[in-house]
Amino acid sequence: LDNGLGRTPPMGWNTWNHFQCQVNEQLLKDSADAMIELGFYEAGYKYLNLDDCWEGHRDENGYITTDPITFPGGIKALADYAHEKGLLFGIYSDAGRLTCARRLGSLGYEDKDAQRYAEWGIDFLKYDNCHNDGSPEIQRYVKMRDALNKTGRPIFYSICEWGKSKPFLWGRAVGNSWRTTLDIRATWASIISIIQKQQMITKYAGPGGWNDPDMLQIGNGQLTLEEQRSHFSLWAALKAPLLLGFDIRNPPVDAKAIALNEEIIAINQDPLGLSVSIVQRTRFYDIWTGPLSDGYVAVLFNRGEIPVVITLYFASHCNLEGEIAVRDLWEHADKGNFATSYFSRVPKHGVTVVKLTGGSRINKHNEPLFLQQIWDED
Ligand code: DGJ
Repeated sequence: LDNGLGRTPPMGWNTWNHFQCQVNEQLLKDSADAMIELGFYEAGYKYLNLDDCWEGHRDENGYITTDPITFPGGIKALADYAHEKGLLFGIYSDAGRLTCARRLGSLGYEDKDAQRYAEWGIDFLKYDNCHNDGSPEIQRYVKMRDALNKTGRPIFYSICEWGKSKPFLWGRAVGNSWRTTLDIRATWASIISIIQKQQMITKYAGPGGWNDPDMLQIGNGQLTLEEQRSHFSLWAALKAPLLLGFDIRNPPVDAKAIALNEEIIAINQDPLGLSVSIVQRTRFYDIWTGPLSDGYVAVLFNRGEIPVVITLYFASHCNLEGEIAVRDLWEHADKGNFATSYFSRVPKHGVTVVKLTGGSRINKHNEPLFLQQIWDED
């Protein structure tokens, strides 16, 4: 959406993945404080996003109010609190009669709700798809886009229809990001299945409009260190929104370190804004590569159950020839210069992420040359 926002993917924190409906004013304030004090803000996480369950009733004029028990001070005060700290504040609603948690949705009240959000100083709207009237998603999401637009306040518009009606085909004209899939869970199976569904749509991501494979689950559930690194690396390289979902007041040590890896964040926030695409898939691993404004990135991803050596061929996987300097973005180490290929031993469910510089493109396309489906024994 051409509203000046989302020139790189949004970064922030959202309540849902850890707290679901157990949200209140104090939690949001403490989380805002933690984002500053623990270094998340400085690393680029700017959005403090309140998901479902803040909504109250509608007043006699049809305007939405705030749950008086959990948010007695109202949303405007919270947004002010966030803004004073330099944060941006996001909120949630639904293109239906009710939200998924059965609070009031915005269908039929788009203008009034958008007007309120603007008055409250909202910077981000996630717009869900529960309890709708069955009319096409695009119609209902365009309505809210137009309502937000009328307010004159730039509000990042996050389409959350779960990939139902191929939002990558119309999302760029309507919003700043679009969910591609159903809800992520904090399990390896969920993460793997979402990654698989990104393969055919990576080309739709770009400045102003991003594929959204859903919010991060690092620090939640029982994901191993390697699994969390893979999850974070692939979301970053796919140019997904990086919306943290752990208890940010008290972040798990591993998840915090992962979220603050500035070299991986830089891949996500690269101004070129092109996603990696999958260039090889074997029974056990994937290779995803893509161009950066100042080089090339490759994610060597071991989906399998044992460690595996993965070889990156600069020509066929990256469209690059010449002398290539390789830097490992998890080891934070320059690995040297290589002429044709680079290999790495990647642990079970893990990744090696390398940035390539030097060399030159073999043909003028940004896209890698081809996708190989090789079902060999590795
Ligand atoms: C469904 C969405 O996909 C989730 O991310 C979350 O916003 C819930 N609804 C809230 O009810």
